[in-house]
Amino acid sequence: MTILVTGGAGFIGSNFVLDWLAQSDETVVNLDALTYAGNLQNLASLQGDERHRFVRGDITDRELLAQLFQTHRPRAVLHFAAESHVDRSILGPGAFIKTNVDGSFALLEAARLHWLGLEGDAKPTFRFLHISTDEVYGSLAPDAPAFNESHPYQPNSPYSASKAASDHLARAWFHTYGLPVLTTNCSNNYGPFHFPEKLIPLMIVNALAGKPLPIYGDGQQVRDWLYVKDHCSAIRTVLAGGRVGETYNVGGWNEMTNRSIVQTICALLDEMKPAAAGPYERLVTHVKDRPGHDRRYAIDARKIQRELGWRPAESFETGIRKTVRWYLDNAAWVANVQSGGYRDWVAANYEQR
Ligand code: NAD
Ligand code: DAU
Repeated sequence: MTILVTGGAGFIGSNFVLDWLAQSDETVVNLDALTYAGNLQNLASLQGDERHRFVRGDITDRELLAQLFQTHRPRAVLHFAAESHVDRSILGPGAFIKTNVDGSFALLEAARLHWLGLEGDAKPTFRFLHISTDEVYGSLAPDAPAFNESHPYQPNSPYSASKAASDHLARAWFHTYGLPVLTTNCSNNYGPFHFPEKLIPLMIVNALAGKPLPIYGDGQQVRDWLYVKDHCSAIRTVLAGGRVGETYNVGGWNEMTNRSIVQTICALLDEMKPAAAGPYERLVTHVKDRPGHDRRYAIDARKIQRELGWRPAESFETGIRKTVRWYLDNAAWVANVQSGGYRDWVAANYEQR
């Protein structure tokens, strides 16, 4: 048996592939274009492991998709591949439409053609799991109830609009064609291999380098943080037991302001790697806000708990401690991802703020 993972060299995808192969002998075909966000070093521990077949390629490449389905005949597709950073979607939305919308469309069509040709039990047990985000639901008022699965779609950024579009395509491929689709909408992840353009890893690597910690606006925006390994376990749970055509919200029951996230990271670094120049909080700077910045996200994760018995294993306290430790122990990984391209991004996003 084989599963096809897209985007398995990125942050969540690589954690998923590593966790999957730690628990199962089922082969993973990993299709990833290796954009700036894809990194084969994340998967270095799988070198020589025949259960992992890496294919460099683009999900918009229909010929390649047809060939992969024909050769490997996967029993499931786990679709992680996406452009994922909101700030990049503001400065350059085109890539988001191409990968998140056109790419998801191409993948759904390739999966549908493969599924149509399946026989016997293979057909009803086939699964297409579309990995999506809570950002499709838009922004919550401070006292509003958390997003449940029937919350209206109100995406506000080019990134979330492109993910919303892909969610709608996945839904339509189930309702119109009967493709056995599952969708997960997850809150903010953090943990190992997180590219340091996102809040938590950016704050850790900047603090360690003695650079400013740039908080957008007043820093009172709220996100619901989930340790990445818990997201991976939720995806495995939905794949195994989710009802086809359903969506499952996944979250950590952990709402925090950006300001308090940065304070927590600074306090952990003060304890684990104190700086000669004094507490890391000295590096905090408030910079110009993100255009269209969503104020609050919160996930109501009761459906996945009620129906499938999933709950996060990590609290934020345990998860963030492991994460800071991981960045302290993996300085070579950090140095490697801070290439010329990374420096160009930092200049483009932060110099005008
Ligand atoms: P990421 O940016 O770290 O990784 C994306 C991966 O997709 C990279 O390896 C990249 O090379 C690959 N990719 C990009 N375009 C491609 C293309 N056209 N063809 C093939 N591969 C391509 O993203 P992530 O944070 O790991 O997110 C993975 C998925 O989870 C995304 O769909 C994202 O929307 C969703 N998600 C992310 C979070 C989060 O907090 N990071 C939360 C909820 C949902
Ligand atoms: O909610 C799920 C989403 O979480 C995923 O779908 C996205 O792929 C993922 O990138 C993430 O989106 P966010 O925009 O919430 O994450 P980011 O880490 O970019 O920002 C988190 C918060 O921190 C947000 O309110 C913006 C703020 N921020 C971010 C950066 C990079 C800052 O204040 N300063 C920064 O330098």
